[in-house]
Amino acid sequence: MIIAQISDTHIDHGAPDADRRASDLARTIADINALDPPADVIIYTGDIAHGGRPVDYEQVTSLLRMARAPVYVAPGNRDDREHLRQAFSGWACLASGAGCLDYAVEDFPVRLLAVDTVTTHSNKGAFAPEHARQLIGLIDAEKTKPIAVFLHHPPYVVTVGPDPLNFAIAEDMARLQQVLQHSARVIAVFCGHVHRSTAGRIGRIPVIVAPCTATSLRKGDYPRHLQTRPVYHVHRFEPAYGFSTQARIVKATAGEKAADSGTESENPEPAERLRSTASDVRAG
Ligand SMILES: [Fe+2]
Repeated sequence: MIIAQISDTHIDHGAPDADRRASDLARTIADINALDPPADVIIYTGDIAHGGRPVDYEQVTSLLRMARAPVYVAPGNRDDREHLRQAFSGWACLASGAGCLDYAVEDFPVRLLAVDTVTTHSNKGAFAPEHARQLIGLIDAEKTKPIAVFLHHPPYVVTVGPDPLNFAIAEDMARLQQVLQHSARVIAVFCGHVHRSTAGRIGRIPVIVAPCTATSLRKGDYPRHLQTRPVYHVHRFEPAYGFSTQARIVKATAGEKAADSGTESENPEPAERLRSTASDVRAG
């Protein structure tokens, strides 16, 4: 099973770099479409539209219609939950009704669980006791398959970057960590929010953080000739080994190729990929 992950596109028609943000998403979808073997599914870990406006979600969904794989979204702090729900109402991935946008995707060898950590009180995450009961119910609804959880806010202490704690209340993060460790079937957590590629763990569970798809907002050190090229994550699952994660740089444009000479090995082969199996991801 192959999962492509995009995150933090911050689509915003009023931004000075609005066209670049839209282009970054379009290029990423095109690159995912060209993966061989193809991606089975795309997960989108929030901050989809910077201001949560319907007009921005319209642009997002029109770009996502180019995707060959089905797309499943989790909201970020910049999203508007109800506008997001309305924009994706025809996509069958969001539960109907009000309240948080947790749901399960049952169509693959690994169950995908979207977890909504958004609160109106803070840009950081939240995870209340009633949400914990709901997520335990979702985890326990199926007892045979491994589970990958995807959400916006990293539920561990991220020691790279300015702010290690991405939940407004430390007890909320501890509660979510406890729920994620409730079942041994939870084998990976995929998230975004901090705009940089990094990884950590919750007990035995690897947590992989995808970089910001919007290149103008991406954190981390990238050489000059890669600064305009979106980077996304490809998570490959094999039953015997769990997940391995590759940070993939999208195909260069003709203009970028001219600045790119001598860097042919930028998308490494499997031996060089960042492994995210339980044995080889270290906190970072
Ligand atoms: Fe973001």
